[in-house]
Amino acid sequence: MTHLPTPQPEALAHSIRVSEWIAERLVLARGWMSFADYMRLALYAPGLGYYSAGASKFGRTGDFVTAPEISPLFAEVVAGQIDIVLRQIGQGDLLELGPGTGAFAVAAILKFNQCGTPLERYRMLEVSADLRERQAERLAGVSETCPPLDWCDRLPETLSGVIFGNEILDALPCERFVTRGEQYWRLGVGLSIEATSGEPQFEWRVRPADGSAPGDDEFQREAAHLQQSLRSHGIELPDDYCGEWQVGLDAWFASMAASLSEGVMLLADYGLPRAHLYHPDRARGSLRCYYRHHAHDDPFLWPGLNDITAWVDFTRVAEAAERAGLQVRGFTTQMAFLAGGGIEQAFSRALEPLSSASSGATVAEQTNLAAGVRRLLMPGEMGESVKFVMLGRSEKYELPAFTLRDLRHTL
Ligand SMILES: C[S@@+](CC[C@H](N)C(=O)[O-])C[C@H]1O[C@@H](n2cnc3c(N)ncnc32)[C@H](O)[C@@H]1O
Repeated sequence: MTHLPTPQPEALAHSIRVSEWIAERLVLARGWMSFADYMRLALYAPGLGYYSAGASKFGRTGDFVTAPEISPLFAEVVAGQIDIVLRQIGQGDLLELGPGTGAFAVAAILKFNQCGTPLERYRMLEVSADLRERQAERLAGVSETCPPLDWCDRLPETLSGVIFGNEILDALPCERFVTRGEQYWRLGVGLSIEATSGEPQFEWRVRPADGSAPGDDEFQREAAHLQQSLRSHGIELPDDYCGEWQVGLDAWFASMAASLSEGVMLLADYGLPRAHLYHPDRARGSLRCYYRHHAHDDPFLWPGLNDITAWVDFTRVAEAAERAGLQVRGFTTQMAFLAGGGIEQAFSRALEPLSSASSGATVAEQTNLAAGVRRLLMPGEMGESVKFVMLGRSEKYELPAFTLRDLRHTL
């Protein structure tokens, strides 16, 4: 990992605390834990994990950049689609899952105010106290304007309106597997002690799901379903193929569906339909780690300092959502969603004041605006790899953003 910048001493000391905490759990688990358990601890262990401790994660000074950070036009277009649903309901709430720095909320609220959207409350589900503070600071400038904002650490009992999340599913803990002949084995985490420093070191450990470790039965069920489903597409994974899936999606969607009394759920995430994600050409899986804008594939490096993500199997999302009583009402690429939702017009509107001679705007500001939009739309950037999915019970919600390129048949 010579291309990665070295963390500051206090960051390294924090990472050692995270490693020791995970190592203690591993010893209690008799030397082996699923990768999902490792990822849950490394990202979400209270006060220690990547998303639960105070480090700066998002944006230029952090580790990665998400769409709302790249350009406010992302939120403007998404908010325009949310406005359509809320008008159809009459009025309702927006619940944003994992709002990050609050960048999406700021731009969305400006758009809602412009449109006179019938939004009763802007709710944010955020489990990290540190991120809540950052969101409140960022929103201070717009919070005097309607609608009322509130933060929650669990889903509301009932919600009429829209649940929105950007890059939430790809941050959920995932199970990893590796193929051994026709069998799918569990690729989990073991422990060794580094000879010179005496520090715990994590390593990959493969074992069959033979019923002797927690979660083996669920793994077997999921693996059998995946194998059967891929076979129905004529896909047999080669030996030594490695992949992953997010765990607990059934429960996650069941809780969302139970909360959503009326309206839709709108999610944007890196991912593919199953037959494309688990393609024999993608033999090393999609697990990626991010440290200071460098992507790498070692989740055991500096636990607590790296983001860890895996691409989403949207066929699995559709299955879990349907089991929870929600249907897929739209599925498309980010490029098609934003184009169908009017990003071109939004771009022209944003460019106009920057182009007038009296604005004092620099060429750099105009170029930045265009570069942001390009990054959101280009196939080699986020345009194709990020997908939008809309889930709901009723057929009445139809959004123009999903009509340009309907990809539901690929699920
Ligand atoms: C990659 S960040 C995306 C942040 C933000 N939405 C953005 O686009 O900038 C992933 C977020 O998902 C949140 N998250 C993880 N598990 C969650 C869950 N079960 N429910 C809601 N949010 C969750 C994390 O706390 C984190 O803020």
